[in-house]
Amino acid sequence: MAISFTLNGKSQSVDVSPDMPLLWVLRDTLNMTGTKFGCGMALCGACTVHINGEATRSCITPISSVTGKKVTTIEGLSADGSHPVQKAWMEEDVPQCGYCQSGQIMSAAALLSKKPNPTDADIDDALSGNICRCGTYQRIRKAIHRAASSMLGKAHSAA
Ligand code: FES
Ligand code: FES
Repeated sequence: MAISFTLNGKSQSVDVSPDMPLLWVLRDTLNMTGTKFGCGMALCGACTVHINGEATRSCITPISSVTGKKVTTIEGLSADGSHPVQKAWMEEDVPQCGYCQSGQIMSAAALLSKKPNPTDADIDDALSGNICRCGTYQRIRKAIHRAASSMLGKAHSAA
């Protein structure tokens, strides 16, 4: 049975088993490999995407549950890496091996859409489920503060 949803702003329909995890659909059916498989059990955050704007673990999200919803992956955060979080990540040189980073960025972007000026505690709280084996947590924090400043600055200059 075809399952339809919006993926990175475009209508998408897939004909897969309804209980297939969204992560499998993204990576194996649609060949979108920016979202990573880490644990498959909602423990590491590598597979984080947005569903209707909420940071969500795609490895435990059955594809049937996203019917009619808006899914955003790292590929859809911006067309060219120009989202303020992506820019801050580059400016702070955050990644080491990189494996966890699309999940970190998606969690960070979801946090900033709700809390434009998060404290360190807010950041730790929102990203506590995103594990980085390389220990890039300090740079992640700095990059989130940098992205917040840049987004707030833009909001002020547009006002
Ligand atoms: S792969 Fe989904 S949380 Fe680890
Ligand atoms: S950069 Fe290597 S796991 Fe996070």
